[in-house]
Amino acid sequence: MPAKDKTLDDLFIDTLRDIYYAERKILKALPKMQRAAQSEKLASAFEDHREETETHIERLQKVFDLVGKAPRGKTCDAIEGIIAEGEDIMQDFKDSPALDAGLISSAQAVEHYEITRYGTLRRWATELKMKEAADLLSKTLDEESATDKKLTKIAESTANVAAH
Ligand SMILES: [Fe+2]
Ligand SMILES: [Fe+2]
Repeated sequence: MPAKDKTLDDLFIDTLRDIYYAERKILKALPKMQRAAQSEKLASAFEDHREETETHIERLQKVFDLVGKAPRGKTCDAIEGIIAEGEDIMQDFKDSPALDAGLISSAQAVEHYEITRYGTLRRWATELKMKEAADLLSKTLDEESATDKKLTKIAESTANVAAH
């Protein structure tokens, strides 16, 4: 389709593919972060979010279904970069007391990326009168925000304090 004929529907599907790719990438990264975490609390937060991420992928598959498209990812350079930076921290701060603080900072970069994507997609779904899709996206958005807050708590109560 010529670019000039594309509409918000096309943009919605493009962005859906972007976050679908990102979520699957995150699903693979979380167990590595869980294994790397020094504190029990942080490891279990990563484990909980891995389970939620499986649900996020299922919800996206439902949204694809609602728009009559097969679920398909589109390479998301942003998440590739965020995850690569997280891997650098895991290597560069291995065995350091600052490792958990670094892991949290990487995980929060991921959550913030997801929050911006889901925030946009939910808004566009509403604009496009897709209430069911908007509700599904909204549920995930709430879980990403809750995870972000939980990570801030772990950082403030233990990880940052233990890091120096
Ligand atoms: Fe997610
Ligand atoms: Fe997330």
